[in-house]
Amino acid sequence: MPEPFMQQLFAGRLGGRNFGKDTTPYKFEKIKRAKRAAVLEHPGVELIDLGVGEPDEMAPEPVVKTLVEEARKPENRGYTDNGIGEFRLAAARYLEEVFGVRGLDPDTQVNHSIGSKSALALLPSALVDPGDVVLMTVPGYPVFGTHSAWYGAEVVSLPLRPENGFFPDLDSIDRATAERAKVLVINYPNNPTGKAADRDFFSRVVEFALRNRVAVIQDAAYGALVYGREPLSFLSVDGALEVGVELHSLSKSFNMTGWRIGFVAGNELLVKAFAEVKDHSDSGQFAAIQKAAAAGLASPGLTGAIRDKYARKLGLLIEVFNELGFSARMPEGTFYLYLPAPRSIAGGERFETAEACSQYLIRRHLISTVPEDSCGRFLRLSATFIAGSPGEEQRIASEIRQRLAGIEFEF
Ligand SMILES: Cc1ncc(COP(=O)(O)O)c(C=O)c1O
Repeated sequence: MPEPFMQQLFAGRLGGRNFGKDTTPYKFEKIKRAKRAAVLEHPGVELIDLGVGEPDEMAPEPVVKTLVEEARKPENRGYTDNGIGEFRLAAARYLEEVFGVRGLDPDTQVNHSIGSKSALALLPSALVDPGDVVLMTVPGYPVFGTHSAWYGAEVVSLPLRPENGFFPDLDSIDRATAERAKVLVINYPNNPTGKAADRDFFSRVVEFALRNRVAVIQDAAYGALVYGREPLSFLSVDGALEVGVELHSLSKSFNMTGWRIGFVAGNELLVKAFAEVKDHSDSGQFAAIQKAAAAGLASPGLTGAIRDKYARKLGLLIEVFNELGFSARMPEGTFYLYLPAPRSIAGGERFETAEACSQYLIRRHLISTVPEDSCGRFLRLSATFIAGSPGEEQRIASEIRQRLAGIEFEF
C-alpha cells in the first residue's frame, strides 16, 4: 500500500512523516489500559479511581440556574470576541474579595479565556520567538511548554523537589540561561505537589523577573482551593503587575470543568497581547456561560463548600495511607495528595519506578493513582474520587484500607 499523501504533509512539530506512527503509550494511556485490564481480570470488583484530575460534582445550583435563564435570551446568542464587561467586572471584584487584589481595571487588566488550558496554549504566541528560553516548573501541566517548543523555544525545566519545599531554585539558573529567558511559568497552588506559594516566594519571583527582564505566567487554576491559610494571589505582591499575569479558572473552584471559562489578569500590556492573540484564535465563550460564571464569582462562598468537602476526603485518604506506612500530610492547596512511592513490598514486589507501583495498585487492587517519576518517585492521589455522601466517602476509605491491609510497603 503506498503511503497516503496526507502522511507527507504534517508539520515537523507533530513528527512530520512519522506523525501517528509512534505507538509507545504515554503515562495517562498506560493508566487507562491498566484500568481496562484490571476491570476485565476482576469482574464485579469496584475500581477506586484516585487518579482523576477533575471535580466529582456538577456546578453549583445558582450557576446552573443563571445559565438556564441566560441561554434563553436572544441577546446572548452571538460571538462575544474578547468577552463581556459583566464577566470582566465580576472577575476583578472576585480578585479583590477573595485575594485582596485591589484596583485592577476590568477593561484593561482582565480578559476572559476559554479555560486556563486555552490561555496557556495562546500566550506563547504573544511572547515566544525561536531561540528564546522558557522556564517551567516540573512536574507540571505541560501546555505552555508544548506550544513554546512548537514556536522554537528551548524549554528549561525547574525541578520541584521536597528539599526545596517544592519551589523552583531560581538561584540555580545559570546566567546565560537567565539572560536568554523570556518567560517563567509557575503554578501555585501546585499540581501535583499540593504546595501553595507564600508572599516571600512570590516576591522572589518578582525580583527575579525584574532582574532578568522575564514575563511571569502564574497559573492559579486551583487558586482558592487552599487549606488552613488564606488564598494568595501573585498579583497582590508588590511589583507583580509590572512583570506578569495570573491565570484563573472556574473549572476547579466552581466545579465548572466542562464549561470552559477562566480569565487572565494582571499586567496591562500582556493582557492586551493575550487579547490580540485570542481574537485571532477564538470568538469568545458563550455570553450565557460568562454570565453564569459571573454569578459564581459573585458568590465565592460556593468554593468554601467545595473546599470543605475536599478537606474531608483528603483527611480520610491521609488517615488510611498513613496507617499503611506512607507519609501523607495535608496539602497546602489543590485536591491532590503527593506521596513518596514505595520501593518494594516486604517479601514481594520491587518497584523500579513510581509508575511500576501505580500499575501494581491498579492491576492487583483496582486502585488507580497517577505516578510521577520526573523529580523523585511520587504517587498523586486525588480527592475527587466519586462519593455521593460523607458516608460513601468513609465506605470508600474503608474499602482501600481493607484491600491493602497486611501489605508491608517499604520506602
Ligand atoms: C495546573 C493546571 N493548569 C491548568 C489546568 C487547566 O484547567 P482549565 O483549562 O480547565 O481551566 C489544569 C487542569 O487540570 C491544571 O491542573
